[in-house]
Amino acid sequence: MYHLLYPLRTYLIVSGHDETNVMTADWLTILSYKPLIIGVAIAPKRYTHKLIKECKEFVVSVPTLEMLKDVWIAGTKSGPGKVKDMGISFVDSKKVKVKSIKEAVANIECKLIDERNYGDHTLFVGEVIAYTYDKKAYRQYKPIIETNFLAHLALNEFVTFDKQIHRGK
Ligand SMILES: Cc1cc2nc3c(=O)[nH]c(=O)nc-3n(C[C@H](O)[C@H](O)[C@H](O)COP(=O)(O)O)c2cc1C
Repeated sequence: MYHLLYPLRTYLIVSGHDETNVMTADWLTILSYKPLIIGVAIAPKRYTHKLIKECKEFVVSVPTLEMLKDVWIAGTKSGPGKVKDMGISFVDSKKVKVKSIKEAVANIECKLIDERNYGDHTLFVGEVIAYTYDKKAYRQYKPIIETNFLAHLALNEFVTFDKQIHRGK
């Protein structure tokens, strides 16, 4: 029934120090505002799971529709070997040793503060210690909706958001 909770935003999780891996993840949420804490559910069989356990940090990168090919590779292949098939480049992050993705519109640097298994996934909980973002995609603490932020509909189907803004009254 988890499809009832979709569409969900899609992100890329970067992990690893000596080797850099990227995986696609929908199951990500903000857990606290102050301090800013993020949780992401990752199955133990993912290579990313091993790297986050080892390195105790990760980066959440925000892809756009223009990166869909890379999002699909990161979500269907396992291990750092996939990176050579992707059209992304890595740049140094501000405060973590894990790299950021240059082409992503935001990179959120997280230090692992907790982890807990729930069913068949591990919830990795990270405190945000730094971030970088593209000023063409966000202005005054708001995403610019013309940016093609990506959401996952089902299987290999993705959507972006309506460019019209509807205001609650
Ligand atoms: C759109 C999409 C969303 C995904 N979301 C998650 C997720 O939230 N958690 C997870 O464990 N796997 C998720 N996956 C599966 C992993 O991305 C996939 O198994 C990937 O190959 C793992 O890479 P790794 O073994 O290199 O870490 C998702 C896949 C896709 C295509």
